[in-house]
Amino acid sequence: MACTGAEYPAFLLPYDPRLGYTLTMIKISFGSGGVVLPDWIHVDLDPACRPDVIADATRPLPFATATADFLHSEDFVDQLDLDASQRFLHECRRVLKPGGQMRLLTVDLRRLVDMYVEGDERLLELWETGVGLPLQTRTLGEVLNEGMRRCGHRFVHDEQTLRVLLNRAGFHARRVDFNHSEHPELRDLDLRSPAAALSMYFECWPTSS
Ligand SMILES: C[S@@+](CC[C@H](N)C(=O)[O-])C[C@H]1O[C@@H](n2cnc3c(N)ncnc32)[C@H](O)[C@@H]1O
Repeated sequence: MACTGAEYPAFLLPYDPRLGYTLTMIKISFGSGGVVLPDWIHVDLDPACRPDVIADATRPLPFATATADFLHSEDFVDQLDLDASQRFLHECRRVLKPGGQMRLLTVDLRRLVDMYVEGDERLLELWETGVGLPLQTRTLGEVLNEGMRRCGHRFVHDEQTLRVLLNRAGFHARRVDFNHSEHPELRDLDLRSPAAALSMYFECWPTSS
C-alpha cells in the first residue's frame, strides 16, 4: 500500500510494515515508475505506478537525514528542470548515509548530439525501438528535437553539467559501465543498455565521507 503524508515517518523506522520485517539496509529508488526492485523503497509522483511512497521529488524528500544506504534513479533527473534537479540532488545528499552510494542513470546529451552531428542513422533506430512515438519526417533533426522535449524531458544533461550539479550537492561521481558496480546492491539494476538507449551511468558518494 502506498504511503502519503502522515504515514511517511513509517519509513524512518528500520521495521518496514509493508514487508513485515526489519530492513537491514534502506535502499530508495526515485522516479521508479512501474519498475519494481526487490527490497527497495519506490518513490514516484504518479499513484498509478503504485510506488511505496507517493511524493514529488522536487520537494523536500520525506526521509530523515542520513537514513539511506543506497539511492537509485534511472531516467528521472531528465524529467526535472535544472533548479529542480539541483534541489533533488541536494536532498539525495541529505538523505544518504555518510558511507552511502547513489546510482544515477540519465540520457546523455553528448551522445544524442554526436549521433545527430555524425548523421548516425542508428539514432532513428534507437528512437523507433526505444521510444516508439510516431515521427512526421523520420529525420535525425526531428529525433534530436523530440529527444529533448518528449518523454517528459525538461533538461537533458551532459556529463559536465551533471557533474557540476552533483559536486554542488556534495557528491563525488564516477562514470561506470552498464550494470557494473563494485557494490552488489547496485549491480544489474540498469534497464537501458548502451545498445538500446543513450544512457550514461554514474555512481556517486558524499564528498565528506
Ligand atoms: C521516464 S519514467 C522512468 C521510470 C523508471 N525509473 C524507468 O527507468 O523506466 C520517469 C518517472 O519519473 C516520475 N516523476 C516525474 N516527475 C517526478 C517528480 N517530480 N517526483 C517524483 N516522480 C516523478 C514519473 O511519474 C515517471 O514514473
